Amino acid sequence: MSKLVTIFGGAGFVGRYIARRMAKEGWRVRVAVRRPNEALFVKPYGVPGQVEPVFCNIRDDASVRAVTRGADAVVNCVGTFSRGGKNNFAAVQAEAPGRIARIAAEEGVASLVHISAIGAASDAPSIYGRTKAEGEAAVKAAFPAAVILRPSVIFGNEDGFFNKFGAMAALSPILPLAKAETRLQPVHVEDVAQAAVKGILGQAEAGTYELGGPDAASFRDLMGKMLGVIRRRRLVLNVPTVLMKVLAFGADMVEAVTLGLVTNKLITRDQLNSLGVDNVVAPGAKGFKELGITPATMDAVLPEYLWRFRPSGQFDAIKASAKNLKKA
Ligand SMILES: NC(=O)c1ccc[n+]([C@@H]2O[C@H](COP(=O)([O-])OP(=O)(O)OC[C@H]3O[C@@H](n4cnc5c(N)ncnc54)[C@H](OP(=O)(O)O)[C@@H]3O)[C@@H](O)[C@H]2O)c1
Repeated sequence: MSKLVTIFGGAGFVGRYIARRMAKEGWRVRVAVRRPNEALFVKPYGVPGQVEPVFCNIRDDASVRAVTRGADAVVNCVGTFSRGGKNNFAAVQAEAPGRIARIAAEEGVASLVHISAIGAASDAPSIYGRTKAEGEAAVKAAFPAAVILRPSVIFGNEDGFFNKFGAMAALSPILPLAKAETRLQPVHVEDVAQAAVKGILGQAEAGTYELGGPDAASFRDLMGKMLGVIRRRRLVLNVPTVLMKVLAFGADMVEAVTLGLVTNKLITRDQLNSLGVDNVVAPGAKGFKELGITPATMDAVLPEYLWRFRPSGQFDAIKASAKNLKKA
């Protein structure tokens, strides 16, 4: 019988890359999600029956136990930006990781990988960062052999970072940014997934790894890079923090008043607070080097998926060469 990994949040951006890699390793993959009917796209990652979405409520012991039982490894990819409701920061990022780690230990799971984030700290300026730190502490207490991965902002085909600003730049002549001088160290989703796979396979020592790509740059410079890739010239505007606070408050209020029917995809007050500090690998932290992984550069990957925001999308190169023909 092949080995079994349970991936909480395995249909999310990062989770699906881990699920695909584990299927390639020949493991059975249980993708534990809230809505299995919306996660059916993971099934073709393996042969029929190899990758299965299953229902799980991460706030409930019995539900977590049901999907953990029999697993050789567990990965937790669940995260949120939500401050209200039952699935708030504390429930999802502080309590659930502890529950998953405790139950994994009780069920005799051999390896546990927990995805946290750079900036997780008890004195972080955001609730996101503080609850990530609580989650890490609970995981370490319940499952000391866990591998904890702390990525910086993650890029790749389905990312919520370059895609969001690329879409904005395709529509608007101005790119408004908050905290444009904050430094980030984008990391490719495939590299984060590879790190997780090493943790699952027992090829990484227990402990915390900070994952940043080869290039750290300010938010403003990253937008410049993105604009170069999508071949658009836009005014990158650093909006004063007070103005952004008002905007974020308004957007948060719309979400609260509509009871979450309209989600705040613009910027939340907590995201604004997160952006107040650099999000780069700390000096001396363990990272890709210790994992034996060479992370991909943005230059190698961004053109592969940001072409869709170019003025002529996939026809950009053909159009440019047609222009040359006309000249000749
Ligand atoms: N993306 C980044 O730039 C980045 C950077 C640093 C750290 N991280 C961390 O990396 C992990 C994966 O992030 P991601 O980018 O893959 O995010 P994602 O695409 O939003 O995936 C998160 C997953 O968590 C699930 N989830 C959220 N709330 C849940 C709840 N209450 N109960 C059960 N499942 C829930 C989501 O399921 P639904 O589809 O049902 O909502 C989704 O599958 C997270 O812990 C995140 O904090 C991400």
